[in-house]
Amino acid sequence: MKEKLFIEFKKIFMEDGGLELFFAPGRVNLIGEHIDYNGGYVFPCALDFGTYGVIKKRNDKKVRAYSLNFQEKGIIEFFVDNIIFNEDDDWANYPKGVMKIMKDLGHIINHGFDILFYGNIPNGAGLSSSASIEVLTGIIIKDIFNLNLDMIDIVKISQKAENQFIGVNCGIMDQFSIGMGKKDNAILLDCNTLAYKYAPLKLDGASIVIANTNKRRGLGDSKYNSRRKCCEDALKDLKDSGMKIDYLCELTMETFNKNKNKIKSEEGIIRTKHVVSENERVLVAIEKLNKGDIEGFGKLMNESHMSLKNDYEVTGIELDSLVEASWEEDGVIGSRMTGAGFGGCTVSIVKDEKIDMFIKNVGEKYNKKTGLRADFYVAKIDDGARKL
Ligand code: GLA
Repeated sequence: MKEKLFIEFKKIFMEDGGLELFFAPGRVNLIGEHIDYNGGYVFPCALDFGTYGVIKKRNDKKVRAYSLNFQEKGIIEFFVDNIIFNEDDDWANYPKGVMKIMKDLGHIINHGFDILFYGNIPNGAGLSSSASIEVLTGIIIKDIFNLNLDMIDIVKISQKAENQFIGVNCGIMDQFSIGMGKKDNAILLDCNTLAYKYAPLKLDGASIVIANTNKRRGLGDSKYNSRRKCCEDALKDLKDSGMKIDYLCELTMETFNKNKNKIKSEEGIIRTKHVVSENERVLVAIEKLNKGDIEGFGKLMNESHMSLKNDYEVTGIELDSLVEASWEEDGVIGSRMTGAGFGGCTVSIVKDEKIDMFIKNVGEKYNKKTGLRADFYVAKIDDGARKL
């Protein structure tokens, strides 16, 4: 990969020597969906595919950026002293956003560079291609400008770039798992305190299989922000009625049931029901995993999907068809949508000897039902963002 990307770099920028290569993975979340921004627990892991960046410093203040994934956009140029959002710059707004937030925080970025990106995460598939390029930019800028930042700082800066520069009000799960991922481990992250624990994924003769609906989705044009707003309104109703909570995930199913009549909208009530039940499911799921009860873990994944379908309403025909076809297969321990929803991917735990059959049967059923072709990846869990 290194050689191939260095050759491309030379072709595009006509520059050579002093090149450096960095990588940030994509992520998949096993359970704990749409609760990171409600102060809940999530359980994601970093993947072995992601985004690569090759960089060479320049002596002036110009940045020239090129993505092999969006070649039609050509080389995008801007200056380190004037970083503004520009619709036409498309994908390049992600690296720009990270640089802008860093500069706003007082970090010194005083010369330009040429940078080539290449990603092998399917775009818009819910495996966090955008958080991947953000965290990648973060570690590159830290390295070449020698900034005093640790990985958690970079994670927070990347989330801020997505919230403030791109305008998607995402939580911290994606950037965190991409920055802090660990080979063969998932991360149990408390999104309220950012306390985290690695959990070795011992799946006992089974693997994680990701299936892409190939229904494209951009977070910006999805209903993501409106779901988040609905949760904020529900929280406000509860606080206004005298409850002393800062996040919806501080509720238990018991306190939710006792107080749900204080949430003013019907929608707020069912969204909160998902949030609270999902948070409880994550904790029970981890207990099951710790006891080696993979089947129990899988059942909770299935329940998570039902809650995202019926209460949070972020699935849709494509995700539901894939998951339902997966549930019918022999050797499937659990299956659910992963990420923001509204298209994107599902995650399943499948017994190793059944994977080929799973891919064949689920692919056929899905195609028959939706007319779309799904892609399947047997996921390898790898380390977080790093210099190669
Ligand atoms: C997207 C967001 C995350 C999280 C998930 C849903 O991936 O970027 O912060 O909210 O959706 O769990």
